[in-house]
Amino acid sequence: MQSKTDIAADSFHPLRLQPARRIPSLADDARDGLLSTPRTLPPKYFYDERGSVLFDRICQTPEYYPTRSEAALLDQHAAEIIRRCRPGSILELGSGTSAKTRLLLQTWAEQSGGGRYWPFDVSEEMLLDAAASINHDFPQIAVTPLVGDYTGGLQGLPAMAEPNLTIFLGGTIGNFTHHEAVSFLSELADRMALEDHVLIGMDRHKDTGIIEAAYNDAEGLTALFNLNVLNVLNRELGADFDVEKFRHQAVYNVDGMRIEMYLIARQSMKVCLPALSTEFELEEGERILTEISRKFDDKSANALLVESGLELVQPFLSDNGYFSLVLARRRR
Ligand code: AVJ
Repeated sequence: MQSKTDIAADSFHPLRLQPARRIPSLADDARDGLLSTPRTLPPKYFYDERGSVLFDRICQTPEYYPTRSEAALLDQHAAEIIRRCRPGSILELGSGTSAKTRLLLQTWAEQSGGGRYWPFDVSEEMLLDAAASINHDFPQIAVTPLVGDYTGGLQGLPAMAEPNLTIFLGGTIGNFTHHEAVSFLSELADRMALEDHVLIGMDRHKDTGIIEAAYNDAEGLTALFNLNVLNVLNRELGADFDVEKFRHQAVYNVDGMRIEMYLIARQSMKVCLPALSTEFELEEGERILTEISRKFDDKSANALLVESGLELVQPFLSDNGYFSLVLARRRR
């Protein structure tokens, strides 16, 4: 079934989605996170131009297994996923360059003639590049880029051909606390039809050494990626963080089953935040929590689904157990 939007839009005319609720600005997040203890910053500010390049390079390091593991899973199970879901449309939350998604699109095009792919991301430039290249490589698949921030809610999404398959890859669900992940997935579940599916990439709980190595690559790219958020604050808020005075730390909190990434002050310092008309002091050794990345086992993955109004259809686990793709539908 084609909705009005299906007919009106094409790859070169992205739809801009208005957030359903107010999205805090960087200034709001910096005020809330940096001026209170424990000090925190949301991970979404990592991804400026330099941060996105660094993230792509992290994905290619030998230590960072999630990207390769997820790509292998998509490659291995694409046919089964498409057969089970029979999607008329695929919506991707946080699509980035859509690189891994191609493995699914390829099978979709071959197996059932494709449909419309809706990549949803904040970066219009990245979306347009991805759309043009998918258009070129998969003529059976129509692409409509959705420009927006999914943290602003999913209410503004256009109607999509049914059944819909929504994908949320990379293990990004792990950036949310349990409570945040439940609100996010509940919102998704609420707008799903009974025949729709959601495919979620979830990194798995495992040996601490393997996880910590993935967030402390020998080339130091994750350190640069983490420290780069200070450049973002300097540029966007006129802050005067001296990046050299910080070091990167990533530790696996085994009880919380999550990586915690910090920036640690090497010495005491004063930081000016002109955009907030304020300054604050950091003591030597003080930490700013810049990211959590949760790792799941069967129990926590299932609890997340069930509390969100979803139910497991099928888990796909990589051979070494490092990473999983979880296929779910609305709870009956
Ligand atoms: C893109 C959120 C899945 O949590 O592993 C990589 C981001 N941070 N290295 C992750 C990240 C440090 C990544 N996600």
